[in-house]
Formats: sequence, structure tokens, C-alpha cells
Amino acid sequence: MTDTQHHIEDTFEGLASPAYVMEQERFEQNLQTIHRIEQEAGVEFALSFKAFALWKTFGLMKPYVSHISAASPDEARLGYEEFGTRCYTYSPAFEAHSFAGVLDWSSHVTFNSLAQYKRFYPQARSRGNVSVGLRINLGYSEIETLLYNPCAPGSRFGVAADALPRQLPEGIEGFLCHNHCESDSYALERSLEVLERDFGAWLPQLRWLNLGGGHLVTRRDYDIPHLVRTLRAFRERHPHLHIILEPGSAFAWQTGTLVATVCDIVVHAGIQTAVLNVSFTAHMPDCLEMPYHPTVRHAVTLPDLTDAEAAGSPLIYRLGGNSCLSGDWMGYWQFEQPLQVGQRMVFEDMIHYTTVKTTTFNGIRHPSLYLRQRDGALKLLRQFGYEDYRDRMD
Ligand SMILES: Cc1ncc(COP(=O)(O)O)c(C=O)c1O
Repeated sequence: MTDTQHHIEDTFEGLASPAYVMEQERFEQNLQTIHRIEQEAGVEFALSFKAFALWKTFGLMKPYVSHISAASPDEARLGYEEFGTRCYTYSPAFEAHSFAGVLDWSSHVTFNSLAQYKRFYPQARSRGNVSVGLRINLGYSEIETLLYNPCAPGSRFGVAADALPRQLPEGIEGFLCHNHCESDSYALERSLEVLERDFGAWLPQLRWLNLGGGHLVTRRDYDIPHLVRTLRAFRERHPHLHIILEPGSAFAWQTGTLVATVCDIVVHAGIQTAVLNVSFTAHMPDCLEMPYHPTVRHAVTLPDLTDAEAAGSPLIYRLGGNSCLSGDWMGYWQFEQPLQVGQRMVFEDMIHYTTVKTTTFNGIRHPSLYLRQRDGALKLLRQFGYEDYRDRMD
């Protein structure tokens, strides 16, 4: 660990909890990794806003990111107005009242179904400056969690090979294929084999191919040389295609924390719960949905511990959210010392799929947003108040 990393690890002085703290240095490391892959593999990475869209940090991305992947008219507008680029926009369903805006804010628009294509293509064609694509359903995904598997039977995403006409409808220049989630390069390699086998007949008719998100290229053990080899080989077989990858998580992976405070410690049936000033359901929803057990600084994660094993152990705690949802807790963690009311609780890796998904359920105050700059200074990006809760329900 370098001195700078150590500095990043432990200083939260002057910070009002709860707060998400994004670390500029780590974010820039991810951006550099992604940029290097782009150059070595000859592909383009677009940032998927659905995972991360803290627009006050867009300035940091500018040297590295040229396109944004948007999943709705509002994301496309944010990309256009705050990032300054027309987006790669896909939505499961576009609507007539907002489609003109989508065309203003997008360079590429991808339809989820042939019916959506038929309905909106004439409007897109009349603009003349929007490239049109279609989402395909590969029918192959290695994602085990059903909630995140876009290729499960009955999926609403994309057109299956047997539903595609041999000659693509007029104007379709690209395919979007999203079937990964926190996946490695070997899963991508196997997906490309299926794609070439089942959709190969259409590839010569296209100009671009978007391989979706879920490529966790910034995870420490990701085999980047293998990814580069795989993508280069694919490009050699299809040299006319512009290849796009649009991960979100990979950009913000391990780039910051959620800093909370212990407000109370309660004991029931011998089980200790530290009640925090944050909530899993409101501020860390993926922990419950995915589910996954977040890492807490200075604690050992014990996800498999039974209640009976936890009961009566002085250093083992559940962590509980300050909402009324009974299931708003996770267990277990073992701490170095007994927890104290008022002490900090630092959840690691809390930047992607958090601030884009949070709620003010129960009126719980939304955590502030901070950026820790390279010189160590904490810059407050946004603080929330009662008005933010009230105004969502005007
Ligand atoms: C179509 C599409 N593109 C990109 C992404 C971003 O995926 P990730 O953040 O896992 O890289 C998703 C995630 O659901 C997606 O559905």
C-alpha cells in the first residue's frame, strides 16, 4: 500500500455523516485502465449512466470518455447537457411524448423490439443524424442471479434470432447485446462465440456492435490481456464493425465509500445490532437485491454465520438500517473492539448503483455527496435537506 492509499484509507475528518465519499485518485485509475484497453483493443467504452452519474465529476472523465450510454430520455438529456455529448441511448420502451427529445440528445438510438422500431423509426430517419440499432437477445447468459439475467426465458429484452428477418429492416445499423454482470473476459469470449454462431448472418449488414455492460475490467483479477486478445481477434473477423462496450460498474468500481455513524446498539435474543444513520434499502439497495455482503472497514465479514453462532459473541454484530423495514439489516461482521454509539462505520465500494438508486424512504435524510480530491481535501458536492424529501412529492 502506498502512502497516498493509506491517506485515502483513513481520513474522514470534517465530514458530516452520512456521506458517500468518492475518491478522485481511484476513479482516475479506473478511467486510465479503461482508456488503455480502448487503445489496445481498438474498441470504444461508453459510460453507462445507470450505474453512476455524479455529474459534478464529469470534468474528471472528459480526458478519457467520449460517449455516454443512456437508458432513458432523462439520462440522455443529462449526457447532452452536462457531459456535452450526444448519447448512445437504449430504452426498453420509448414513448411518443419524449422521443423527439431522445433524438435531440442521442447520436445512436437502439430499439428493444421490432414494434418499437416500426413506431419510431420514421421519426428517427427524418432527423438524418441518428444511427439506429436494435437490441438482440442472445439467449445465452452466465448470470446466475435471475434479477440481473436479461436472457432468462420470457425476458422482455431484445429480439431473439428466430424473430429477426434475414434482411434487417431499413436503417438498422447496429446491434446492442447485453448479457453480462460483473463478468470476466472468458464469459465475453463464450458470448461472442454464441453471437457469431446465432447472429453471424446479420453482422455484415451492420456498422456497429454494442456489447453492453457487465464487463468488470477494473476488478483486480480481470484478465485484461485476454480481453484485448479476444476483442482484437473479433475485430479481425469483422473489421467493418465499430465495437462499443458500455459498462457502468467498471468505471466506478472500488472508487469510494459510504460513511455512516452508529446511533444505537440493540440486543435481541442475544444478537447485537448496531443501528446506523443509513439504510440498506434506501442507500445500498443492491446489498439486499443482489444480494451481496458489503465490506466494512476494520471488520471481518461473516456472511455465513448463523444467528446461533452470532448470539452472545461480544464483537459480532448485525448492522441495521434506520428504516421501518424489518429486513433492513445485514449480518454478520466481527469488529476489533466493541462498537460505540457515535463511531464511524465505513462501507467500502459504495459508489456504483447507489446514488443513482437511492430513495428517501421513511424520510431518511439522503447521505451527502463528497469528492476527495487528489490533494486529500474533501469537496462537498451536495448536501440534502428536508426540502429534498418534501419536494419529490409536490
Ligand atoms: C443495456 C445495459 N447496458 C449497460 C449496463 C451496465 O452494466 P454494468 O453497470 O453492470 O456494467 C446495463 C446494466 O444493467 C444494461 O442493462
